[in-house]
Amino acid sequence: ANIGDFDDHWKNREQQAKMNAAKAYDPNPQEACHTLNKQVHENYHETSNNNTRRGLGKYDGHCLAANPIDRCWRCDKHWSMNRQKLADCARGFGHKTTGGKKGRIYVVTDDSDGDLLNPKPGTLRHAVIQDGPLWITFKHGMVIRLSEELLVSSNKTLDGRGGHVHIAGGAGIMLQYVDNVIIHSVHIHDIKKGNGGLIRDSMSHFGFRTASDGDGISIFGSTNIWIDHVSMSNCMDGLIDAIEASTAITISNCHFTDHNDVSIRSLCAICLAIIQGLT
Ligand SMILES: *[C@@H]1O[C@H](CO)[C@@H](O)[C@H](O)[C@H]1NC(C)=O
Ligand SMILES: *[C@@H]1O[C@H](CO)[C@@H](O)[C@H](O)[C@H]1NC(C)=O
Repeated sequence: ANIGDFDDHWKNREQQAKMNAAKAYDPNPQEACHTLNKQVHENYHETSNNNTRRGLGKYDGHCLAANPIDRCWRCDKHWSMNRQKLADCARGFGHKTTGGKKGRIYVVTDDSDGDLLNPKPGTLRHAVIQDGPLWITFKHGMVIRLSEELLVSSNKTLDGRGGHVHIAGGAGIMLQYVDNVIIHSVHIHDIKKGNGGLIRDSMSHFGFRTASDGDGISIFGSTNIWIDHVSMSNCMDGLIDAIEASTAITISNCHFTDHNDVSIRSLCAICLAIIQGLT
């Protein structure tokens, strides 16, 4: 990924990413944890009181999502009619993440990943390189085997809610020098190293990439990233690898298995543990 050294496009993106990181960095991480813990506790008390009433046979039919993130969207029976509501639901360090909010909906209809330079319309690779905000959904359940790393651009949401969307058996997702990305409800597993080569990263640019590591999701110099309800297992390198001054990241409600190298090196591991404990 150290391509920035000899490509002006990536050099510019690196400069922009540095500014984004300086802006997104929270100098008071305890406060972010405190706020999240408070939200979790408030939510927990409401839920448990109501649970008791349900136990007594007087359940009043309201939603019981057990954490503040899920409660924000899941309690709406018709959430699938208003998918972009999710953009208001991030909590914790990545709470400003809105992904593809206000962008159009792009429906992935094609699970193939054949052309890395001119991705076919309807494929996930074509979706993630579009300019401007975009809310990416999937027409039906599918297994996408990426031929090489998927270079996601800024202001995107990958929204796999309601289907069984797997990114599996090929290369992983790369968030390099990007800002504001949501990845929701996808299964990412059995990720292998890529070979690198020429890959398009935006509508206006493609370039040579070195081999990718085999991470499930690589977060490299990126800010405002929210990963929620993502199941990950068995990736050749890390499941999620957040490096190079990446900041303002929330990883919530996820399920990680079959890996011997899961390390969360940030303070908010505490908050995450609390959320996990209640769900
Ligand atoms: C039960 O849940 C509703 C909706 O979240 C809330 O307004 C209400 O205060 C809760 N009831 C109790 C007894 O906590
Ligand atoms: C993402 O969206 C923000 C807010 O609209 C905008 O300022 C920024 O330039 C966008 N980023 C990119 C890379 O398009």
